[in-house]
Amino acid sequence: MELLIKNARIIDSSQDFKGDVYIKNGIIYELGTYLDKNCEVLDAEGLVIMPAFIDLHTHFRDPGQTYKEDILSGSLAAAAGGYTAVNLMANTVPACSSMETVKYVLDKSKEINLIDIHQAVSITRDLKGEDVSHLESLDYKVKAISDDGRGVANSKVMLDAMVKAKEKGLMVISHAESEELTAVDTRLAENTMTWRDITLAKFTGCHLHVAHVSTKEAMKSVIEAKQEGIKVTCEVAPHHLALTSKTAYKVNPPLREEEDVEYLIKAIKEGYVDAIATDHAPHTAEDKLKGANGISGIEIAFSVCFTKLVDEGYISLNKLSELMSKNPAKLMKFNKGEVKIGYEADLVLVDINNKFTVNSADFKSKGKNTPFDGKELKGVILKTIKSGRVIYDKQNEDGRHKD
Ligand code: DOR
Repeated sequence: MELLIKNARIIDSSQDFKGDVYIKNGIIYELGTYLDKNCEVLDAEGLVIMPAFIDLHTHFRDPGQTYKEDILSGSLAAAAGGYTAVNLMANTVPACSSMETVKYVLDKSKEINLIDIHQAVSITRDLKGEDVSHLESLDYKVKAISDDGRGVANSKVMLDAMVKAKEKGLMVISHAESEELTAVDTRLAENTMTWRDITLAKFTGCHLHVAHVSTKEAMKSVIEAKQEGIKVTCEVAPHHLALTSKTAYKVNPPLREEEDVEYLIKAIKEGYVDAIATDHAPHTAEDKLKGANGISGIEIAFSVCFTKLVDEGYISLNKLSELMSKNPAKLMKFNKGEVKIGYEADLVLVDINNKFTVNSADFKSKGKNTPFDGKELKGVILKTIKSGRVIYDKQNEDGRHKD
């Protein structure tokens, strides 16, 4: 399969030039100007081509809660958002605590054949916070472990998990929340466990990745750890950058204050934030009414970040590409995330000059839960290309059968 994309503004973490991308056998084969090939041509005049996005933090709810999302609806949503790879969290039903559940997810995603899926395994068996013996049985398909949705309350249990993670080369993704403090103060809950997990990571030498950092103090802990040379990386979520507690919407960690948002953006600008990850958390309207935490965000994550961070002048589109593609690819050890010869041809075609109004009824995701409904955003995803194949086309809405 060959494809020639012509006249695009080609942007990744380190490049910004007008030219052509020639894709062959699923990889970026040639870059240049005035390329001429005897194959299908996509004219991208006036549009931006970027590496497709990679999400380090996604909930597809499969197995067990497929009324909220499943691997097909989640993959379609991801593709519509410009993503070609996701890291799924383990808080499914049952929780993903075994290679058997990992196999179920990977087999299903292979069958669907839309995006790359990595399935994280829980840190503690069945997310119960007690036993980590299942980590022994994980094979090379698993690169990350997380109890996301909950903090690991017992420090010795977390320590044991980190020792095993270090031995097996796994990234430990921390949902930093001391739940015994949540009812007292959610900031305290986040700040204390962020500090604890960093302290344990320093002791064990494992790779700690702090998920959805939302407070100024937690980010300060991450920055200090990085300055000290501790093996810590972190992500922030689009909603924690674009919204504050003035928006009444239930998500965990909660939407924070203006001062926190400013500090997170400052940390991004100074290079302390490794990735922007969606925490795509689809729920039914009924479950939201019952108090479920979460935002269905993967379809509009780029536009939220482009509007808030790039259009408002805080960071360049190159920097956003680094946060949404290059760095997450590095963390997941994927051969993509940059527009480079030999890399997988996972690309996204974007119109950065156009706006749209969010209408969650149009989401591919089963989760329509978003505080962005009715908001105008800039940056429209037109096509998502996976290994040279169009898997989302705004004009066709679903590119699955377009081989
Ligand atoms: O808002 C959230 N929703 N935060 C989490 O940590 C979990 C997630 C979910 O699974 O719904």
